[in-house]
Amino acid sequence: MFNFDEIIERRTTRSIKWGLFAPDVLPMWVADMDFRVPAAIETALQERVSHGIFGYDFLFADLQERVCERMARLYQWKITPADVVLIPGLVVGFNVAARAVCQAGDGVLVQPPVYHPMLHVAGNQQLENHFAPLQKTQTGRILHYQVDLPAFAQAIRPNTRLFLLCHPHNPVGRIWNQSELHGMAEYCIQNNVIICSDEIHSELLLDGHTHTPLAALAPEIADQTITLIAPSKTFNIPGLDCGFAIIQNPTLRKRYEQAMAGLVPHVVGMGLTAGYAAFGTETDAWLKALLAYLSENARVVREFVEQRLPKANYTIPEATYLAWLDLSGYALDMPAAKFLLEKAKVGLNDGAMFGLGGEGFVRLNFGCPRAVLLEGLERIANAL
Ligand SMILES: Cc1ncc(COP(=O)(O)O)c(C=O)c1O
Repeated sequence: MFNFDEIIERRTTRSIKWGLFAPDVLPMWVADMDFRVPAAIETALQERVSHGIFGYDFLFADLQERVCERMARLYQWKITPADVVLIPGLVVGFNVAARAVCQAGDGVLVQPPVYHPMLHVAGNQQLENHFAPLQKTQTGRILHYQVDLPAFAQAIRPNTRLFLLCHPHNPVGRIWNQSELHGMAEYCIQNNVIICSDEIHSELLLDGHTHTPLAALAPEIADQTITLIAPSKTFNIPGLDCGFAIIQNPTLRKRYEQAMAGLVPHVVGMGLTAGYAAFGTETDAWLKALLAYLSENARVVREFVEQRLPKANYTIPEATYLAWLDLSGYALDMPAAKFLLEKAKVGLNDGAMFGLGGEGFVRLNFGCPRAVLLEGLERIANAL
């Protein structure tokens, strides 16, 4: 019914993923997928385009209501339309969070290795980075990451004001469990640290894993949390810049909206149209099929690495379409992504960009047709 094996030419579309490298390079880096969106989104956009007039659009409450319905349906999480602030992207969303809650010299807590724009928030706004690195253990060649709660507590300093949580975590693929979430939230509440929980990957669940929004755990956690969600990764519409900040504490929400005022553009009409269609129920069957396909791709990567990359270590991602591979065993004389770009003609993200603990790793995007994935993996194995 859905053909995720279809190979669609993207170089003609201004795609950054397909346009950054030379034509002989297979791009498996930036986090968008090479799949066509659900028909409901395509139809909604086509209808909007064929109207032919593209004046200023207005946010009607129906979109916020739809977000509330989705949160109730997926997580039994009860929020109101007034809690939902529209944002044109989540990188914007967590930078605004820092503007809203920090003053110059304050600290932003991050958990490297982590999605690199989170590491840059502090530098963007005269703030300090405070690091609570993830704990890594290994069984055979399988890497496990978890939150080191004592180290997390120690990383909070008197001037730490904001914690940027990545849940599920890019690049390590963990969905934090209840004890990790409660533990982190407790320390933040005790120390008056606002949490900005980036949950952009929360619906990209592999092998039947489930997600719980941090703020849905308890009212006192919700009171101190800004939750960022979006249909963008799940439904492959990240170029349309439609995201949501869910902020149940009215004082915090007001500060957030003030930090946006006059600076942050509205979500454009195409984003509103696509976001509304994406978060309805008509996309459910597509998403179910996508998750089955991605789970199988994750398994293909795992088996390939086990059999053909004997010196590589790897994680088993619970969410996202990102594989996190430790290639340090190959003792390459240059960063692994550079080596694989030159020798394998595959474009990957180098682990070092994700900060502490990322050196020697690469991040591989398996959100692509299986034949493309296998071609990329073959190229990597041959080069290594
Ligand atoms: C954790 C995380 N947050 C945010 C983004 C980007 O969000 P946006 O394109 O909405 O700014 C990504 C993209 O890869 C991501 O992995």
